[in-house]
Amino acid sequence: MEKSILITGGAGFIGSHVVRLFVKKYPNYRIVNLDCLTYAGNLENLKDIEGSKNYAFAKVDINDEDLLKEVFNDYQITDVIHLAAESHVDRSITDPLAFVKTNVMGTVNLLNTAKNHWKDLDNHLFYHVSTDEVYGSLDDGGFFLETTPYDPQSPYSSSKAASDHFVRAYANTYGLKTVISNCSNNYGPNQFPEKLIPLCIHNIKQNKPLPVYGKGDNIRDWLFVLDHAIAIDLVFHKGKTGETYNIGGFNEWKNIDIVKLLCEIMDRKLGRDKGASEQLITFVKDRAGHDQRYAIDADKINKELGWKPSLTFEVGIEKTVDWYLENEGWLDGVTSGDYQKYYQQHYS
Ligand code: NAD
Ligand code: DAU
Repeated sequence: MEKSILITGGAGFIGSHVVRLFVKKYPNYRIVNLDCLTYAGNLENLKDIEGSKNYAFAKVDINDEDLLKEVFNDYQITDVIHLAAESHVDRSITDPLAFVKTNVMGTVNLLNTAKNHWKDLDNHLFYHVSTDEVYGSLDDGGFFLETTPYDPQSPYSSSKAASDHFVRAYANTYGLKTVISNCSNNYGPNQFPEKLIPLCIHNIKQNKPLPVYGKGDNIRDWLFVLDHAIAIDLVFHKGKTGETYNIGGFNEWKNIDIVKLLCEIMDRKLGRDKGASEQLITFVKDRAGHDQRYAIDADKINKELGWKPSLTFEVGIEKTVDWYLENEGWLDGVTSGDYQKYYQQHYS
């Protein structure tokens, strides 16, 4: 095998798309998906590729030093693409320590294991997949650049900012070859229905309220998940070590407008009267410390690596709604908790 890449968090939303892309595109690489399967990990996301010769799964917590070492030894890991994290801002408000444990301590444990395992650090890469939330919150104008000072506002974004700092500290102190990308909001198949878009699709289908925080005027920059996976592939292979790349959709939407758009699409697809689903919109108490606006300037990755989103939002959101409607079993499994039996039934 030319490379043996450890992808952490591969059973989650973005990780599953990255694992699939790498397994299919690079038959000469071994892809080791390391994931401890929290509530957000779902191996069903990968059932189409789990039999591939160049794929392996390890149920391991990134905080488990001994098991991590074992995986590095057993699979002779050459590179890491690190996505495993606690990812939901609302959960970070109720349980910040869980975010420190996984996102900060787990990342440091992984960095340390990689640094100790790799004899010649020049031949290996540690890639940290991070978020635009580390830059804080924008008002009406301006964009996040790679040079924007860090100003995280939530326990989630603080934990991701801390992990970015540790990645840079390992590069600076020990000479580990690293690269970081900071991406905006992803949407698409396999996203856990606690996040705005799949939550709304699910609730519209069930005729349940659509909770819009505050006035619904917060702004997010949405990117189709496969375009993020394609960017990760490019940064991994062509990015300069020690650099940071911002990834975004050039696609800003107010939350309320996204929710209304989803209502319109779902009314059409479900054959409901025009305007029927909008009745479900319910304004609720705002998220504590809610960041007003995120917007990425993705010029650097565009100019240096030639990346730009391949899908327009209009196409991506239709594809997403279709996927959730065609994969009712996936949503039912996730909402009933049945998805958590998949590992026992198929792997042990
Ligand atoms: P997710 O919550 O869907 O998946 C996270 C995965 O990590 C799950 O499979 C989970 O089981 C695993 N995991 C969690 N804790 C672990 C631990 N201690 N050990 C091993 N595995 C563990 O997350 P996502 O939305 O796919 O995000 C993936 C990464 O991308 C995260 O690092 C996140 O910060 C970053 N990111 C996400 C977005 C987004 O819009 N979702 C945008 C930018 C960056
Ligand atoms: O910007 C990148 C980040 O995007 C990632 O780093 C995070 O992992 C990912 O979860 C996402 O964070 P957000 O907090 O922006 O995503 P979420 O889907 O939770 O919320 C999107 C917006 O919608 C946000 O302004 C809050 C609002 N919202 C969310 C939920 C769940 C609502 O109004 N109602 C809701 O029920």
